[in-house]
Formats: sequence, structure tokens, C-alpha cells
Amino acid sequence: MHLPDYKEARSRSKKEYNRIEFKSNNKIANKYSGKKFFLKTYGCQMNEHDSENIEALLVSLGFSKVDDYNEADLVLLNTCSIRENAHNKAFGMLGRLKHLKSEKRDLLIGLCGCMAQEASVVEEILRDYKFVNFVFGTHNLYQLPNIIDKAIEENEQQIEVFSREGDLVEGLPVIRSNNYKAYVNIIYGCDKFCTYCIVPYTRGRERSRKKEDILTEIRDLINDGYKEVTLLGQNVNAYGKDLYDDYNLGDLLEEIALMGIPRVRFMTSHPWDFTDKMIEVIGKYPNIMPSVHLPVQSGSSKILKRMGRRYTRENYLELFHKIKDTVPGVSISTDIIVGFPGETEEDFLETMSLVEECKYDNAFTFIFSEREGTPACKLEDNTSLAEKEERLQRLNAVVNKYFLENNKKLEGNVLKVLVEGISEKKDMYFGYSETNKLINFNCDRELSAGEIIDVEITSAKTWSLDGKAI
Ligand code: 5AD
Ligand code: SF4
Repeated sequence: MHLPDYKEARSRSKKEYNRIEFKSNNKIANKYSGKKFFLKTYGCQMNEHDSENIEALLVSLGFSKVDDYNEADLVLLNTCSIRENAHNKAFGMLGRLKHLKSEKRDLLIGLCGCMAQEASVVEEILRDYKFVNFVFGTHNLYQLPNIIDKAIEENEQQIEVFSREGDLVEGLPVIRSNNYKAYVNIIYGCDKFCTYCIVPYTRGRERSRKKEDILTEIRDLINDGYKEVTLLGQNVNAYGKDLYDDYNLGDLLEEIALMGIPRVRFMTSHPWDFTDKMIEVIGKYPNIMPSVHLPVQSGSSKILKRMGRRYTRENYLELFHKIKDTVPGVSISTDIIVGFPGETEEDFLETMSLVEECKYDNAFTFIFSEREGTPACKLEDNTSLAEKEERLQRLNAVVNKYFLENNKKLEGNVLKVLVEGISEKKDMYFGYSETNKLINFNCDRELSAGEIIDVEITSAKTWSLDGKAI
């Protein structure tokens, strides 16, 4: 049994990590043919992409996927720790599964992802959720086949969580959820330690993949007909710092753009690491999508300092305008936290005025959520939850106003859309523009997913646009 430990997770060493090639265990390939699995994913794109690997590993064991957990022989929760509600949702699901397991004794239940890296979660599972058969963490996902096999063969709870990142494993099998758009990890972990954030503890230190491995993966995706790649990392802008003296995200984006894939996206960008070269490259290549996710978190320099964000309101605005001025038609989205400990009404009004200035195309807004073990937990917090909720509502009203206002400006314009399919609600096609706006549209001819077509925008809504293919 390996249990997670925050002290160890917090430590960072300069020790080189090994790049190893994933090897499947042939002895257990297809051993569980005929068994069914249900996989539930919480959280960010990183987790979604991990689930694409998990699915392939389960299929290699012989499992097949089902969409209803009542039909499954194995239920696996790939969890998220970022805020309390994600945490509560996973525990709520475990409660329902306990019930199911009382009727279905052989049901196998597993938990993985970020929550598995939290010592308190694992303690709770050991104490109150003895029916959970296995737990593994973000650093040893590749061991999933052996862990499951052991849990079944030995019929006892397996807790296998490593606090520290180990090797960087290449060549994991993957079953992608989309045939035209793919996620590609370029960097794992985060070394920023923003004071509210649990990610540096659950995902380990920053480790970049070798550029050759990334380029090979993208070459294969192009050969398989993929039209769009999204380069993923907690902070993609730190790409290469741990590996190369003189090769960063700007250089990587440029090499990928030159490979000729129609669309390249990247997320998330910490403002601190954004270089002029990166901005220049994004502006230069038409196949690097003009869409940047640039979390600001707060408009108050005092709060930003407490958050450990390493920039001031002024630094952020300077960068924001540089990107806007250099990349034609760029859309910028953001993340904002309200109610951080010590945030006064004046601080909050600074966030509101920053939003008035930036007029974001999209924004994800949250109330500060205390995460055990992070420095922000120790800060004094005098604001009531009701007041924080009220701030969130006021903030959402302004961000929404600008979403609609920006979208209205697009009425009558022709945008390039990557077709995804037919939308569920209406009898219309849907897809995303270069600036990552959701477009529902009509078309006289039959379209296939993966086509990139011109759509004239006929009407704007807050979160989407309607149009007509031309
Ligand atoms: N409370 C609220 N929001 C948080 N985020 C990260 N940690 C917390 C927290 N403890 C938000 C940040 C980040 C996004 C992914 O989630 O805005 O950018
Ligand atoms: Fe968390 Fe900050 Fe790292 Fe983003 S940059 S993952 S908010 S610590």
C-alpha cells in the first residue's frame, strides 16, 4: 500500500526524471473479456485526456464501455480536487455506488485522479468507504491494469498512490473521444504554487515532454485525419524550461504550425511566462488559433499578491493589450476567483473594473474554495458566504453582458467553423469558430464532422451564435 503525503508532494527536486516507454503486461491482456466498465470523469481537460488513456488501458484488459453504471462490472471515478463541489460530487457518487454494491456484491469500484493524491481523501476511504476496491493516483495511471488485476485476484483493497512524480511515461494507449480534435499533453504538473491552488500537490512538479515525442504524436494525428490539436498543460507557457536552454512554447507552436494541421490551440497560459516571441508566433501563423485563455483571478494587485500570482493588475493589463494589439481578432478568456480571504468590496470593485476594461469573450468565475493543505487556508477570511455569492452574481452579470456584446459584433460576419455534428436540442449543425465560439447553423447540403466551412452569423446569444453555412 502507498499512501499520499502532502509534505512530500510539495517538495521539488532538480533530479532528472526518466522518460520510459509504456509496456503492456501481456499476461493479463484481455483477461477480463466480457466485463463492462463505466468511467466518470470530473474536472478539467487534463482529466478528460487521462480518461482517454484509462479507457484504452481498460479495453486492453478486455473490458468494454457502458454508459449506465447500473450495467457495469467496474465503476471508476476519475476525480478532481480543484474546488469543494467537485470533491463533494465524487463522494456523492461513492454514496450511490455503496448502495449499488449492496445489491451487486461483485461490483468493482475504483477512484483515481487528483482526489486520490489527497491524504485526507485516502484516509476517509480507508475509514468509511471500505467497499472501494482500489485507488491509484495521477503519477501511476499507467499501472492501472496491474492494480485492477491485483484487486480482483487478491480480493483486498489496493491503495497505490505516489506522492511524487516518477518517470514520464510515453506511449500509453489512448482511445480518443473525438475523431477530429485531439488533446496532446506537452507539460505535466505546476511549480507556481498559487496560494489557493491544490494542483501543484496533486499533479507534481513541472515536467515537459520531449519535443520529438510531441511532434511525433501530432504527425500521427495528422496522418489519422485530425484537424485540431489542443496542447495541454496546467501552465503551457512554462513548456521547455525544465528541459531546454533555448526552446519554449513559442518555438514548439511554430514547429507545430509548420506541420500544416489546420488548427492548433493551447491551454492554460499563466500570464507570468508569456513571452513576446510567443505572442508574435501566435499572430504570425493562421493555423494557430487566435484564442488565449489567460486567467487573471483578481483585478486587485493586493489580492494578486496574496494569491502568489507573480503579477500586478498593471502587468496583466499590459500583457492583455499586447496580445490584443499583436494578434488580429484574438479572443481572450479568463478565470476569476471572488471572495479570496481578505478581499474587500474595494478589491472586488477592482476586479469589476478590470472586466469592464478587458471585455472578455469568455470567463469562468468561482467563489474561493478552501483546499486543505494550501497556504490560503491559513489566511483570515471575514467575508460571509452570502456576500461572496452576491459578488459572484454581480460579476457574472458583467461578464455575461460582454459575452453578448462581443457576440453581437459578429452578426453578419463570416466565420470558419470546424463541424462537429448535429446539435441535440435543435435540428442544426454545430461546431466551433477559430476564436472558440460555439456556432449552431443550418446548411442546405449534408456535412460531415471534421469539415471546416464558412458560416455567416445571423444572430448572437450570450453563449453561442446562430448562423447559416455559405
Ligand atoms: N477556489 C476557487 N477556484 C479555484 N481555482 C483554482 N483553485 C481554486 C480554489 N481553491 C480556479 C482558478 C483556476 C481554475 C482552473 O480554477 O480560477 O484558474
Ligand atoms: Fe494552480 Fe496557479 Fe498552477 Fe494554475 S498556475 S495550476 S492556478 S498553482
